[in-house]
Amino acid sequence: MNALHDATTTDVGVLDVAAVRAVFPALARVHAGHPVAYFDGPGGTQVPRAVVDAMADYLLHHNANTHWAYPTSAETDAIIAGAREAVADLLGAAPDEIVFGHNMTTLAYHLGNALRLGGGEVAPFGAGDEIVVTELDHHANVAPWRHLARECGGTVRVARLDMATGQLDGDHLASLLGPRTRLLAIGAASNALGTITDVARAAAMARAVGALTFVDAVHAVPHAPFDARALAEAGVSFIGCSSYKFYGPHAGILWGRRDLLASLDVPKLDCSPATAPERFETGTQNHEAIAGIGAAVEFLASLGDDDAVAAGTRRERLARGYRRLHAAGQALVTPLWEGLRAIPGVTVYGPPPGTPRTPTVSFTVAGRPAREVAVALAGRGVFTSHGDFYAATVARRYDMADAGFVRAGCAAYTTRDEVDRLVDGVAALVRA
Ligand SMILES: Cc1ncc(COP(=O)(O)O)c(C=O)c1O
Repeated sequence: MNALHDATTTDVGVLDVAAVRAVFPALARVHAGHPVAYFDGPGGTQVPRAVVDAMADYLLHHNANTHWAYPTSAETDAIIAGAREAVADLLGAAPDEIVFGHNMTTLAYHLGNALRLGGGEVAPFGAGDEIVVTELDHHANVAPWRHLARECGGTVRVARLDMATGQLDGDHLASLLGPRTRLLAIGAASNALGTITDVARAAAMARAVGALTFVDAVHAVPHAPFDARALAEAGVSFIGCSSYKFYGPHAGILWGRRDLLASLDVPKLDCSPATAPERFETGTQNHEAIAGIGAAVEFLASLGDDDAVAAGTRRERLARGYRRLHAAGQALVTPLWEGLRAIPGVTVYGPPPGTPRTPTVSFTVAGRPAREVAVALAGRGVFTSHGDFYAATVARRYDMADAGFVRAGCAAYTTRDEVDRLVDGVAALVRA
């Protein structure tokens, strides 16, 4: 993850934002006389035409259930297998380690139920067991583990957020890990503050005390390359993410270490497949979404292409695309951060540009509830999110649980002009 921070574009070319924008029909939308600038990517990005085409093509021409002896069923099997390969490339994993599901939250609850029962080398979770979560995390990476602790009679311990830096307090995290720790649940990137956390380091600490690590990568995958194999070596056991945050449809993804996916006592129908990863997938999947996920990965890989020519493996194209994305995002986050910060009464939160972060900035305007700011910006065609974004503990720590943050996230299609429009909109609201 931290290699991301050092990325430069010198040897990989530059993101062609105009070409990217051309494939997103949503960008043609006009609101209140203004072209819409979508800064709501951390809540869900817009979707390129190729993703929608893949979903429509599946439903119109290949729609069937799986594992039967006629062409559309075989095509469905092939589309799902192809999407698993694509996600494996995305995460640096093997296809049989990729589980599809409804969303990350549901997959985490499901995994929690399996962990409670244990299996293979994982003993059932029981009374006195400890699970460590963090204040920085979205509650999708907190609530399932609180539920697991309740079910097994265990305890949840919470690693502190350092409010001055917007980063996790690493010393506090280390102090919480001990012989009773069974699971560390940690986010790779904060959807509220943009903070990037060194999850490999944290997982290594967890493994040293014999604990598993679940990484919430929902906000990280749209911005940062992943290498599940390297992370597994460091001690990461599971990674969760959601395709609707990386230009795909509303669906969730779980990567798990192969031995864990094969051996955990996952709640499943007796008659459903007994082998991983299907044993983790309850019932009929959202085939059209899975078709879209494959296309979304291909879109991300295409960001590493020049003149639409795919050079190298998909993993190599993804690596180039991510480096271009990173450079483009960092070039936007600096004027976004500095522009907002220069406005009287505006406070920006999280790590400053130049430190490991995604191009997602939360801010507040003194005396104006976040919703009011978001409404004013929407009147200028600038779409931002407001509230706590389910990172409820972050909002509480900064005393913003009631007023909320406004959140502006840059995506592959975001331009400097859009950033300026956002900053101008906030400045105008403050002057009004
Ligand atoms: C960091 C983070 N984790 C988890 C989630 C929840 O993901 P899902 O909607 O797939 O359950 C979100 C959604 O906003 C998120 O931003």
